[in-house]
Amino acid sequence: MKNRERRPGAKPFPGAKPKANGDAARPRPPKSADFAGKPSKPSSGQAAGKPERGNSRPVRRSPSEDGKVANTAETASEPARPLTVRTGERPSERVPLILESTGAGDFHLIDSGDGLKLEQYGPYRIVRPEAQALWPKALPSHVWDKADAVFTGDTDEDGMGRWRFPREALGETWPLSLLGIDFHGRFTAFRHVGVFPEQIAHWSWMKQKVEAADRPLKVLNLFGYTGVASLVAAAAGAEVTHVDASKKAIGWARENQSLSRLDKAPIRWICEDAMKFILREERRGNRYDIILTDPPKFGRGPNGEVWQLFDHLPLMLDICRELLAPKAVGLVLTAYSIRASFYSIHELMRETMRGKGGLVESGELVIREAGLDGKTPGRALSTSLFSRWVPK
Ligand SMILES: C[S@@+](CC[C@H](N)C(=O)[O-])C[C@H]1O[C@@H](n2cnc3c(N)ncnc32)[C@H](O)[C@@H]1O
Repeated sequence: MKNRERRPGAKPFPGAKPKANGDAARPRPPKSADFAGKPSKPSSGQAAGKPERGNSRPVRRSPSEDGKVANTAETASEPARPLTVRTGERPSERVPLILESTGAGDFHLIDSGDGLKLEQYGPYRIVRPEAQALWPKALPSHVWDKADAVFTGDTDEDGMGRWRFPREALGETWPLSLLGIDFHGRFTAFRHVGVFPEQIAHWSWMKQKVEAADRPLKVLNLFGYTGVASLVAAAAGAEVTHVDASKKAIGWARENQSLSRLDKAPIRWICEDAMKFILREERRGNRYDIILTDPPKFGRGPNGEVWQLFDHLPLMLDICRELLAPKAVGLVLTAYSIRASFYSIHELMRETMRGKGGLVESGELVIREAGLDGKTPGRALSTSLFSRWVPK
């Protein structure tokens, strides 16, 4: 569904600043950029071509009379809404929780080492840089040398680079299937391939919750990229709202919807700044049973709105809490590419969910090597941090 309420020329999200410093150790895309191979400048419908590095300056809070605290990030011109002062007990906790996948469907991690990873995506073996693979490769070089596609280029993990196809020239896309969802793998300019398979752990959890429910659950997928999570939810019977700032990514998600034969599934595709969207949903009183939020460290909305994880995450989670339906099933946050431990998002989630009961479980999403046959467990490669609130 087209988002009819987007205001052209809207001002950048208050509290954002155009530039930041810091450093990162990330394996993630974007910036919602031109994923298809060209760098794009921030413009309507697309986000920045290259993410700025993370800024660890926290949002400062100052008490106000109505029990709220102001979002006083230094560059805030007009706070969109103050952070809520949460009282009551913090939810109980389970840490660390390591959610491990060895792959599923068409994906598995074959091997890793020496700063690289070798992955199987359907028919193709792909080599990509992997800064966390500090150990030596387990498989001999003749296995790695037979890769179908190799990403080379900028050592900055979100940087530009190019694909090399040592065996034969390959097209930009190819068919893939995960958890019963058919979609396109895609060689993009930022080393990404149109899916983040470590998310399988969250998607399997969500699928099981949606299938077990006695009513169609409402799922909100923020920063939804190519839509695989939205399609998993819809195929399981959920009513889905998918939000992403990149027109191009939404276009790919719609293509994936057709590939998965889910054209008639109840999915709203919304090209909008995630923060603006949730602020409006809060005002309208719309509520969701499951919220997935997978924000980049830095991104831009369709009208140049700036997303800075370290500046905006507290308010985003605060609003997401308000968007949870009375019988909500979960709020799942994943964070990539940030200089932080899972405890930072864990404690933020627990503070945000004070008085709500339930459990906050946090840790890392890891993918375990599975060898050439996809069945031989090897070393675990960490991909991201996550924190998940669930009712008890
Ligand atoms: C890390 S990817 C999400 C990956 C996705 N959850 C998955 O697992 O396939 C980040 C996405 O955030 C989008 N994005 C960046 N800034 C945004 C903003 N301000 N509002 C909404 N989406 C944004 C990008 O276009 C990109 O698709």
